[in-house]
Amino acid sequence: MNNPQLNKNGKLQHLLTTEGLPAPILLKILDTAESFVGVTQRDIKKVPLLRGKAIFNLFFEPSTRTRTTFEIAAKRLSADVVNLNIAASSQSKGETMLDTVNNLSAMNADMFIVRHSQSGAAHLIARHVRPEIHVINAGDGRHAHPTQALLDMFTIRRYKKDFHNLRVAIVGDILHSRVARSQIHALTTLGVPEVRVISPKTLLPAKVERLGVHVYHDMEQGLKDVDVVLMLRLQNERMLGARLPSAEEYFKHYGLTQEKLALAKHDAIVMHPGPMNRGIEIDSAVADGKQSVILPQVTFGIAVRMAVMAILAGN
Ligand code: CP
Repeated sequence: MNNPQLNKNGKLQHLLTTEGLPAPILLKILDTAESFVGVTQRDIKKVPLLRGKAIFNLFFEPSTRTRTTFEIAAKRLSADVVNLNIAASSQSKGETMLDTVNNLSAMNADMFIVRHSQSGAAHLIARHVRPEIHVINAGDGRHAHPTQALLDMFTIRRYKKDFHNLRVAIVGDILHSRVARSQIHALTTLGVPEVRVISPKTLLPAKVERLGVHVYHDMEQGLKDVDVVLMLRLQNERMLGARLPSAEEYFKHYGLTQEKLALAKHDAIVMHPGPMNRGIEIDSAVADGKQSVILPQVTFGIAVRMAVMAILAGN
């Protein structure tokens, strides 16, 4: 199948989704990120790989982690980074997204990092820009968040070493989660033999089993003997109707507490992409506990985003 992310030589042209990305490309990103972890730990945290390149952060939807770590990553690669303030931009006067992109392209942009509430926004920009410009999807609607999934894979490999003997559970609001979709594609491509999703029926996409996951509605059963627990945020802003009785009821059944975590393997790690709703999907004792690797995920995100940008620019 034609993959719009790959050029005619099979190299990465854009990063839009983990769906359909071959394992060697995913592994190349993870391996390249390993080499950048050392850079991020030095006194002078810079390499000249993207010197002279102009990178535009276009965040049409709020972000703390993704926008900031992309900016840090670009600066560590010595690129010039522009964070477009969308609220103060001519979007507020009615300029279309593609006209904004056209104008920034006319300023000799080399790369766009795009977050948007509409699924497909980054794909649209990727189809629209000149071939020498690269587009990275930093999260589009419910569709995909590939760099989040990649930093999650990086974190899992760091703590668990090998994907081929793992049992991984993704817990929570799968229906609205671009992170869950991107994680499922990455985990299955990298050879994780058992990926579970644990969720109430109202927060599961139709026919989710077709993605190669095992479905659980009971948290106690779903967490049994897993190596990795990937928690998801309850996405109140994307809920169109009342899908849950109450936040308290949700926490009772699907909130991760120390008691529920004890059903997983004793050395299981707990991850969350952030932002967390403490007391709704995760108890603070777990979020801040010794099995949590939530903050290392953020740190690794810098190296992973450096790797993605360096690989794209190398084409
Ligand atoms: N994980 C994530 O996408 O967080 P932000 O919304 O803060 O970027």
